[in-house]
Amino acid sequence: MISKCEIISLGKISDLRGNLSFIESNTKINFNIKRIYYLYDVPAGAERGGHAHKELHQFIIAVSGSFDIKLYDGKSSVIYTLNKPYEGLYICPMIWREIYNFSSGSVCLVLASHIYDEQDYIRSLPAFQNYQQ
Ligand code: TYD
Repeated sequence: MISKCEIISLGKISDLRGNLSFIESNTKINFNIKRIYYLYDVPAGAERGGHAHKELHQFIIAVSGSFDIKLYDGKSSVIYTLNKPYEGLYICPMIWREIYNFSSGSVCLVLASHIYDEQDYIRSLPAFQNYQQ
C-alpha cells in the first residue's frame, strides 16, 4: 500500500524571469482535483495531519520552505522531506500521515480528489489500525 505513495516530479520551466511549474488533473497526478488547500504560518514545532482518509487522494507540495511527512499504512512507515516546489508527494487513500518540521515561512499546498468531508477522516490511530483488519 505505502509503495503506491511516491514523489512525482512536476518539471520546471525556467527563464531569466524565474521558474514555473504546473499541474493538471489526470496528467502528472492520476486524479481529478476537486479541492485545493494550504497550510501556512505554521508555528515552530507544530504538527499537522495525524489522520488518514478513507477515499481521498492527495498530492502535497512544499511550494515554499520545507517540512517532513511520515506515512504509515498499518505495516510500514516512510518519511519524506519535501523541499522543492517542482515536486510533490502523492498519497493514496488509507494512509496515516503526520506533517512536521515546518521551516519558518513554509507553505504546504495540498491538491485533493474530493471536497471536504469529515466522514472521510480517520482521526485516531487505533481506529486506523482496526480498519486494516
Ligand atoms: P485538518 O484536516 O485537521 O487539518 P490538517 O490536515 O492540516 O491537520 O483540518 C483542520 C480544520 O479545518 C478542521 O476543523 C477541518 C477544517 N477543514 C475544512 O473546513 N476544509 C478543508 O478542506 C480542510 C482540509 C480542513
